[in-house]
This record gives sequence, structure tokens and C-alpha cells, in this order.
Amino acid sequence: MEKNRKISSNSSLEIVQREDLDAIRLNLAHLARKAADLAYAPYSNFRVGAAVVLEDGQTFWANNQENICFPVGVCAERILLGYTHANFPHLKPEILVIAALKSDNSGLATVTPCGLCRQSISEFEMKFKAPLEILMCRPDDTLLRASGIDQLLPYKFEDLNR
Ligand code: THU
Repeated sequence: MEKNRKISSNSSLEIVQREDLDAIRLNLAHLARKAADLAYAPYSNFRVGAAVVLEDGQTFWANNQENICFPVGVCAERILLGYTHANFPHLKPEILVIAALKSDNSGLATVTPCGLCRQSISEFEMKFKAPLEILMCRPDDTLLRASGIDQLLPYKFEDLNR
């Protein structure tokens, strides 16, 4: 019988220099930051932008939208992926970049997707049977790269019949 044995994940994130990004990723990072500028976050003052490229090369962006009834607010990532999937349900999202602004507007803040957004990203990976690369902008001009949601959500819920 297995007793007190461990299972472990190989979760890891890569630190990427902005200057090493190719044109597509650099453009997404730029769009995510621009989208963060337009976020509606009067309650948290934490403005988040997200940008995605679909498999046909189209890019889209969105930002967080808060509500006076706090739980009604929605994160940038879920607004964005909900929108692209609503309009282009057959196009796989390939690369997602997120950026957040410090509340005093002094520059980029550190951001990683919240748990709900991780689960939402997982859904699209399941549907399209492909990992979604996630790049997270950081204040020091580097980015964190997850090669897929497994790196951010190990042991995820994915099988109703297991
Ligand atoms: N937020 C996002 O939009 N994306 C994330 O990845 C983290 C959190 C938003 C939700 C809320 O409007 C604000 O940031 C503070 O939590």
C-alpha cells in the first residue's frame, strides 16, 4: 500500500528579458499595457490589461472591469478570452500577455493570473488541446513565461469522470 509517499509537479516559470521578445510578443506586451491604462478599476485601483493572439494572427485586448458590488467585477483575462471565444470559437488562442499598473501610476506592477482566470485558461487549453503561452509583465522590464497553464495550475480539475 502507498503510504506517506509524495507526488510532485514540475511547475516552473521562465524569466524572459523584454529585449529577447519577438515582434508578436513585444506587440502583445505593448497592447496589454495600453489596455491596462483603460481599465475600470475604481475600487482596487489595480488596473490590469491583457492581450492575446489567435492562431490566425488576430490580436485582441481587454482589461479588468470592476463593480461597486465587488464580486461582479471581472478580470482582464476572462473578459478577453470570453470575448475572443464568443466571436471566434474555432480559433485557438496562442499567446496571452498580461500587465498591471501600480496604483500610484508609477509603472508596472507584478501580476499573475488569479485562480479563476487560471481555471478559465485551462478550459481553453482543454478545448483546443494545446497549451496557451502566458507572459506576465514585471516592473523590472522582465516577463515571466509559463509555457502552459500546467505551470500555474498544477493538479488542475479537468476530468469529471475520473
Ligand atoms: N485582476 C485581473 O484583472 N487580473 C488578474 O490576473 C489579477 C486581478 C483584477 C481583478 C480586480 O479588478 C483587480 O485586479 C484587483 O484584484
